Amino acid sequence: MGQTPPVHEAAERRDWPAYFDRIEGKPARETMLRALDGFGDVDPSDRGLAVDLGCGSGIDIGVMLERGWRVWGGDGSEDGLSRARARAGCADAIGEGRLELVRMDFGSVEIPRARWVNASFSLPFCPPADWEGLWAKIDGAIKPGGRFSGQFFGDRDDWAILEDRTHLTRSETLGLFDQYILEFFQEEDRASAHQGEAHKHWHVFHVVARKREGSR
Ligand SMILES: C[S@@+](CC[C@H](N)C(=O)[O-])C[C@H]1O[C@@H](n2cnc3c(N)ncnc32)[C@H](O)[C@@H]1O
Repeated sequence: MGQTPPVHEAAERRDWPAYFDRIEGKPARETMLRALDGFGDVDPSDRGLAVDLGCGSGIDIGVMLERGWRVWGGDGSEDGLSRARARAGCADAIGEGRLELVRMDFGSVEIPRARWVNASFSLPFCPPADWEGLWAKIDGAIKPGGRFSGQFFGDRDDWAILEDRTHLTRSETLGLFDQYILEFFQEEDRASAHQGEAHKHWHVFHVVARKREGSR
């Protein structure tokens, strides 16, 4: 019996429809949920805007909407955006003006100013030439007191040799957050359980951070 290919094989090839098929039905991302909890029981009318950058098929967006946020979701994959539009609650939220889904590219995106930027497993797919500009836009979009949640891939990850990816060292990752309070920082540095071609060494930083009041 052959093994089902792991979901990361689709991501390695940037085969996003196959990736979205494989993650269908999976729960929302832990870093997004931690950031949500960090905002606590804010009056829904006072929550403001959350950005989901590289939202894919909207695995995080449904929960963000349920918890009362207005959401701007951006992704490069039209297939991902149409799956997000079809999610429970999303069509209504679009009709009510609480959700905007935008096709965009990391190299040219205009990110709206927001209380929260979530980027679950998407930023490593930014080409290195666009990375500095993209991070400057993310940082510039987050209001003081607001949060970032998401992942960065490290320099010991197997995909660090791929030329179209952005991988950061631990100190480069921490350096992005000089103006923030780190609320959650977890470094995953481990071999996957897969054998042969499907094996992958994972080096991932999981981050939730709050931008200091009084910063830009
Ligand atoms: C691994 S998926 C993560 C999707 C979703 N955030 C999740 O947690 O399942 C990476 C996402 O980044 C998007 N992406 C990759 N390169 C991109 C680019 N240059 N511009 C915009 N989106 C991009 C892909 O379309 C894909 O939806």
